[in-house]
Amino acid sequence: MALPISFDYGYLAPDVDFDEVTSYQDNVDLAHKKVTQGGGLGSDYLGWVDPGKIVSPEEVQKIKDLAKQIQDNSDVLVSIGIGGSYLGARAVIEAVAMPGQGPEVIFAGKSLSVHEHYGMLQRLHGKRFSIDAISKSGTTSEPAIAFRLFRDALERSVGKEEARKRIVATTDASKGALRKLATDEGYATLNIADDIGGRYSVLSPVGLLPIAVAGVDIDALLAGARDVAAACANPDVTKNPAYYYAAARNFLYMKGYTIEIFATFEPRLHYVAEWWKQLFGESEGKSHISFFPASVELTTDLHSMGQWIQQGRRTITETFVIVDGGEPNLLIPAADNNLDELDYLVGTSMAEVNKAAYHATALAHRDGGVPNSTVHMTTRDAYSMGALLYFFERACGVSGYLMGINPFNQPGVEAYKTNMFALLGKPKFEKETEAVNARLAALPKNTVVEF
Ligand code: PA5
Repeated sequence: MALPISFDYGYLAPDVDFDEVTSYQDNVDLAHKKVTQGGGLGSDYLGWVDPGKIVSPEEVQKIKDLAKQIQDNSDVLVSIGIGGSYLGARAVIEAVAMPGQGPEVIFAGKSLSVHEHYGMLQRLHGKRFSIDAISKSGTTSEPAIAFRLFRDALERSVGKEEARKRIVATTDASKGALRKLATDEGYATLNIADDIGGRYSVLSPVGLLPIAVAGVDIDALLAGARDVAAACANPDVTKNPAYYYAAARNFLYMKGYTIEIFATFEPRLHYVAEWWKQLFGESEGKSHISFFPASVELTTDLHSMGQWIQQGRRTITETFVIVDGGEPNLLIPAADNNLDELDYLVGTSMAEVNKAAYHATALAHRDGGVPNSTVHMTTRDAYSMGALLYFFERACGVSGYLMGINPFNQPGVEAYKTNMFALLGKPKFEKETEAVNARLAALPKNTVVEF
């Protein structure tokens, strides 16, 4: 059976051509070996590579049972998490969930915004809700604060006893604050494996529970990922679109393209783009090398960012993610007059117009000096989505190794946290508090410009 994902590199030439990419096969083989057999940097975090092993059949059943329970007793699931503990679930739900197939899933703990959280708490008044608190470490500030807020609201709404039955903790199997709290309180729990980092965790219980609650077929999602993983056993770049993409983008980087734009013509892929940005940004953004991952939603952003892409600084490459079919047949209707000059499109499906916009844009951007490629998805369903997510995960692991970095750590994200804990006076951060306060005191004064 043909897989639902393919990669078209046509518009990468003349910047990167087929011969260059195929000449890179030895490096790709090495990166492939590191991803599949270990031996590379960060090799303790390869638990995502075989999607058939991320969750056992028993765990899948447990996730389905918990999802069913939440569907039966709740109008809303509050999924609490940030970064890798948030984006994958949201990406899949917004891309493929059908309204009414499950309770609404809302996402908390992904910011420290009062407005956002206050608004969500208000909206929950009078509604039956459950909580999935997702944090591998169990100590991340944003979800920890949100969990306090929503747990408190749930306990006030249904009482402590009942609240316990409506909370799931998705966290490390044995350590961390959330694990301890879950054990003490008797919450249902799902485990996050040690060898799977946040941004590679969408196909683990981290993503699967909220996705299942939203009514998405998680068996199909996992099957899509498994099938692409099986096909990735072949490292030949001419037979492996994920590896062709990984190799080509490394050439682009070496040739001075430093920004990669994820571009989609389907707004429902908005959070897939957000997920992709975290995947590549956190995996590759280190050692002061690598692409800046950006995204646009088209045709919307052709009316805002289109000018820049067409004629701005020539440091960008674009990766289109295009859904080839499966849209409802919405035809452009006839009208009493042709003042809008659309009569030539009467009876044409809107999907066809969107497709023409894609072809027109890819060509125009190529002409404007933007090397671009396209990841095609046959349709927008759970199976294709699993395939797409895995395509990018696999490409990211291989691409990171081709770049010579560790694609599985994220040491840089600690810097702001240390400053924040110091500023907030967190216990055990006394030295940092002193240092930050001294630095702030030494800053130039009166740097604010006021009207
Ligand atoms: O990809 C990552 O590792 C991060 O984005 C984490 O997922 C994020 O910081 C949340 O961490 P945790 O799940 O420990 O709360």
